[in-house]
Amino acid sequence: MYKNSKAMRSFLKYFLLIICFTFNIESLVLASGGSSPSTKLNASPELLEKGKLLFLNFCAHCHGNRGEGDGFNAEFLDKDPAELSNPKFLAKRSNEKLFRVISVGGAKIKKSHLMPPFGYTLSEKEIWSLVSFIRYLGNDKSLVNVPSNVQSERPRKSVLTKPDMLSFSKWFAEKGKKKEQTDSGKTLVMNKKSCLGCHQLNDEGGRIGPSLNRSSFNYKPEWLYAWISNPQNFRPNTKMPNLGLKPEEARVITAFLISFQPEEEDEKFKIHEGWKQYLSSEGDPKRGEKIFHDPEGIANCSKCHLVKGRGGKIGPDLSFVGTSRTSKFLLESILNPSAVITHGYQTVMILTENRKLITGIKKNEDESGINIINKEGKNLHIPREKIKKFKIQKISTMPGNFKDLLEIQDIRDVLAYLGSLTLPAIPNSDN
Ligand code: HEC
Ligand code: HEC
Ligand code: HEC
Repeated sequence: MYKNSKAMRSFLKYFLLIICFTFNIESLVLASGGSSPSTKLNASPELLEKGKLLFLNFCAHCHGNRGEGDGFNAEFLDKDPAELSNPKFLAKRSNEKLFRVISVGGAKIKKSHLMPPFGYTLSEKEIWSLVSFIRYLGNDKSLVNVPSNVQSERPRKSVLTKPDMLSFSKWFAEKGKKKEQTDSGKTLVMNKKSCLGCHQLNDEGGRIGPSLNRSSFNYKPEWLYAWISNPQNFRPNTKMPNLGLKPEEARVITAFLISFQPEEEDEKFKIHEGWKQYLSSEGDPKRGEKIFHDPEGIANCSKCHLVKGRGGKIGPDLSFVGTSRTSKFLLESILNPSAVITHGYQTVMILTENRKLITGIKKNEDESGINIINKEGKNLHIPREKIKKFKIQKISTMPGNFKDLLEIQDIRDVLAYLGSLTLPAIPNSDN
């Protein structure tokens, strides 16, 4: 994902920021005067703590950890994210106004469409906690009055049913390639919805989520439609917010992304000539399942991958990969895993103070240090003060030599097995 060094530098900047700046509400309160917290805070410590966690999870990549508008993603945006902690900015906005823009997003209040809406993802109470936290960042001590009747449940968006999906497939087969539809999808993606705040298209756009340049290579249309309609339905903790798309909007956005050809034709966007033999005949999913899960076998995929509760957690969960990914993408993932590194699974390399080199996948980080999982599946905690150097590698943690280790038929069988891992509500097509 961090293809160019600019992006890499900005990531490192972001990383360093986290190291240097670890916030702690108590210590900030004490630093600002030392009297009892209750007279200094604009809301209860619990609400502020909740706001802080939400802010770090959903807002900091653009607005920066302290709300100064300098998150790692800011440099990729055409519009600067607001400097939320600036007292002048805060003085001009009521709490209700802040609440509103966070709920409905920039586009609905004549601000930039790159500011996403969060009201389809977070509860009203959570959004109030963000308002309180933003005021707190700006050192504004006026009390934030949370209305007494706020919802504390997150909104639930209805889950797509099989008939909804069938009706999408029918629409897509009839109209999905029509210019009128792909054009209206393009307008939504480029100018109206916040996709480019977080995703790259051609060279434009944010780096929070995966690049959308290869959408048609990677994703099946049904999956794209289902995912963008309700991401939390598939990954409850995902950082992609629900954007409240209407079905007709999600439909045309899907049509646009499937039709999209990146300006820079990259070798990587095509399937290798020599690889066609793997896709030319059917495999045996039962045999593929054995190869995938056999702990004594050469492949031993399940050492790293979870499938419906079975297997390891080093790599991504593949429980419904047959619904979400095309067979071309799956083949590429096996033969050349470093071509595209799945979002959130970059290999990191850490050099410690005592010159030890540790590689693995970063699982999370906090004030105390970084947690990584290595390729043996061992969880390691590396304290901040021990880290001398931190780098993201371009090479996958997944072994790159399955092409040599496995027979052509083995790979066909594994592909057939992966193709059988589907979600029943979503019809299966391969484009
Ligand atoms: C993808 C980047 C991105 C993310 C993520 C993001 N914002 Fe923004 N935000 C922006 C941009 C860009 C603007 C500037 C909009 C403008 O001025 O037209 C903005 C503006 C704002 C504003 C000011 C609106 C005004 O009144 O001028 C607030 C408040 C805000 N964001 C809060 C948040 C909160 C809270 C979160 C997390 C829940 C968040 N933002 C997440 C990009 C982002
Ligand atoms: C605030 C940031 C944000 C916005 C706005 C956003 N996304 Fe995402 N998106 C993400 C992140 C982060 C992921 C990775 C999610 C994960 O793996 O949990 C993601 C994942 C995806 C994926 C891949 C899903 C998969 O199968 O792994 C697609 C496709 C996608 N987004 C499309 C879109 C489109 C289209 C829009 C606009 C309509 C959009 N996103 C808006 C952050 C965002
Ligand atoms: C040592 C651990 C390891 C082993 C063994 C392994 N993988 Fe992976 N796999 C990963 C990691 C880590 C990723 C994410 C990084 C990347 O995209 O390369 C990944 C990514 C993938 C993806 C892409 C998933 C997506 O949605 O983007 C597929 C498909 C996959 N592996 C299939 C397999 C198969 C099939 C095997 C056995 C032949 C296998 N893996 C063996 C670690 C492993």
